[in-house]
Amino acid sequence: MGWHTEKEKDREILPKDVVIKRIKRENKDVRTFFFEDALLDARPGRYVMVWVRGVDEIPISLSHKDAITVERVGKTTESFFKLKEGDSIGIRGPFGNGFDIKGENILLIGGGIGIAPLLYLAEVFGEKKKDMVGNRRFLSITTLIGSRSIETLIFLKEFEKISKVHCSTDDGSLGKKGSVLNMLDAEIFNLEYDMIYVCGPEKMLRSLLEFFNEKDLLEKTQFSLSRIIKCGLGICGSCCIDPKGLRVCRDGPIFYGGEILNSEVGRYERDHTGRRRKV
Ligand SMILES: Cc1cc2nc3c(=O)[nH]c(=O)nc-3n(C[C@H](O)[C@H](O)[C@H](O)COP(=O)(O)OP(=O)(O)OC[C@H]3O[C@@H](n4cnc5c(N)ncnc54)[C@H](O)[C@@H]3O)c2cc1C
Ligand code: FES
Repeated sequence: MGWHTEKEKDREILPKDVVIKRIKRENKDVRTFFFEDALLDARPGRYVMVWVRGVDEIPISLSHKDAITVERVGKTTESFFKLKEGDSIGIRGPFGNGFDIKGENILLIGGGIGIAPLLYLAEVFGEKKKDMVGNRRFLSITTLIGSRSIETLIFLKEFEKISKVHCSTDDGSLGKKGSVLNMLDAEIFNLEYDMIYVCGPEKMLRSLLEFFNEKDLLEKTQFSLSRIIKCGLGICGSCCIDPKGLRVCRDGPIFYGGEILNSEVGRYERDHTGRRRKV
């Protein structure tokens, strides 16, 4: 399993009691839960296994060094909405590789709840940007975020503090009408990006893989993937993606575009029983 110390092993196997210090409402179906303390080894793109007592354990990405942002989609995520400040949850991890943080001309592309892990990444780039002031280096961050409507779009103000933001909504209630793909025009591509970071719905990931492949930019892209994660330890096989059997929980959840271009991503996934289903 590659554990270096007993403490590291315990962090991955035994859920640690973590107290929720603050709960922030982002919209009707999304809340951010801030922990009393930042987690050890927290990095953008990593995720934690969160155990809500009596319900289930699910993977959630870090949206800050000390917080997760949860969208209500089923029974476990729904149970988060009953938690109060001062309550505790069980946390294993953080797990996964996290984003490779590099480059000085950065593009972030997020859709739906996929915007959440990109916020932590933007914050880390924002800190780098501050450190560069005075040493004649320059860091440019552009963010494209999309959602169903103005009511469901999260973290707009937070990204505006750190980056140049373009947004889209399916119903046109804010920004460009349609998906984030509609924003990939000449204005956005007037900069040569060193690195492009993507997180969002599976269909969006597939379209972007094809788009960046055509532009010969795949080696400059990092994608955050989601699959059914059970152990988080790389042993159960629940999160493997065809055809190479890459484990999202351990080899990912972040992959360079070239690694997953010819994979199942955006075509099909597996349910809790391992059976294939279309995305
Ligand atoms: C690496 C990773 C990071 C994630 N980060 C976030 C995040 O930051 N915020 C957030 O709101 N959600 C995140 N998710 C998705 C979240 O884990 C699922 O929404 C959650 O597990 C659904 O549980 P449920 O019981 O509420 O819904 P269910 O009724 O079980 O399912 C609702 C939907 O979620 C999918 N799902 C269920 N269990 C899992 C699982 N263990 N892993 C992946 N998908 C699952 C189902 O296939 C279904 O499409 C992440 C998933 C992964 C793999
Ligand atoms: S969740 Fe068990 S191998 Fe990835």
